[in-house]
Amino acid sequence: MKALVLAGGTGSRLRPITHTSAKQLVPVANKPVLFYGIESLVAADITDIGIVTGDTSAEIEAAVGDGSAFGARVTYLAQERPLGLAHAVHIARDWLGDEDFVMYLGDNFVVGGIKELVDTFRAERPDAGILLTKVADPSAFGVAELDAGGRVVNLEEKPAAPRSDLALVGVYLFSPAVHEAVAAIGPSARGELEITDAIQWLVEHGRHVQPTVISGYWKDTGNVTDMLEVNRSVLEQVEPARLGAVDDASELIGRVRIEPGASVVRSRIVGPAVIGPDTTVIDSYVGPSTSVDGDCVITSSELEFSIVLGGSRIEHAGRIEGSLIGRGVHVTGAQRAPRAHRLVLGDHSRVQITT
Ligand code: G1P
Repeated sequence: MKALVLAGGTGSRLRPITHTSAKQLVPVANKPVLFYGIESLVAADITDIGIVTGDTSAEIEAAVGDGSAFGARVTYLAQERPLGLAHAVHIARDWLGDEDFVMYLGDNFVVGGIKELVDTFRAERPDAGILLTKVADPSAFGVAELDAGGRVVNLEEKPAAPRSDLALVGVYLFSPAVHEAVAAIGPSARGELEITDAIQWLVEHGRHVQPTVISGYWKDTGNVTDMLEVNRSVLEQVEPARLGAVDDASELIGRVRIEPGASVVRSRIVGPAVIGPDTTVIDSYVGPSTSVDGDCVITSSELEFSIVLGGSRIEHAGRIEGSLIGRGVHVTGAQRAPRAHRLVLGDHSRVQITT
């Protein structure tokens, strides 16, 4: 069995972070979301992985390499334009051959992995397997309708009037039957070849599409709270370690991971939290559910329930909560009067100020 991982797309929902970085590389507990997907494929004994890339191909290739770091063999497949998920299957047709495969959207996060689902698919070999989860806003997803017996009767991409609250999760299991469906469908109203339409074609042609309803699913929705929430849940499993320097005047409480080269001085860190490599925390408090990535400086500030990407500085900033801070950002307290907010914000930034 092979895997097709989709790592193209623009990431408009996670701006401004994705103005400068692929959405699949946004970190959860200091690790790109894409890596969790690759690891879950390898954990399901799938090591032959094709990654479909678009505009951000150089960045994705630099991060994943040949896959050997994951125990996988990675082949890159270029998609010139984002013409849809079924189009990605179409361009990967020759590489996929006649093998079964998992299609994994690189910005999706499935808590607990997919090993059980893959094992069941291998044993039962339906024509396709789909994962569904209850969501509050089904019209932002592909939506499935099941009959009383739990069979799939209808699938629709981002319907204005959803027939259920069951969204398609971005992990699909396919037999080669999907290629016939992909060849048969035409572009949707938004001009894309939708995988949802290909699966609907399988349903209409009497093929066996096996649904599995799961919980513990996350996808970027532009809602930063969702990202903070998945970060929180992953941090709860993080392995505590003290690989950097912590002085005697500092206190680490609970599940805290201090990466190599990091240094904690006169500070209090309450887990679950990770402090990335070569990051310095001085005279500060880092509270639960916080990930600070590498090469950051946190000085005389308080930070809780937040994600800070690499190379950022937070100095004399007071208390920061529920925030997502990008790479190379500088947040500093006003040192002299007037104590005004002085902002240099990138396009699509969002700021909430306490007045
Ligand atoms: C895609 C699919 C949609 C699915 C979603 C899951 O949407 O088209 O059916 O529910 O992934 O992540 P997109 O990310 O293109 O909006």
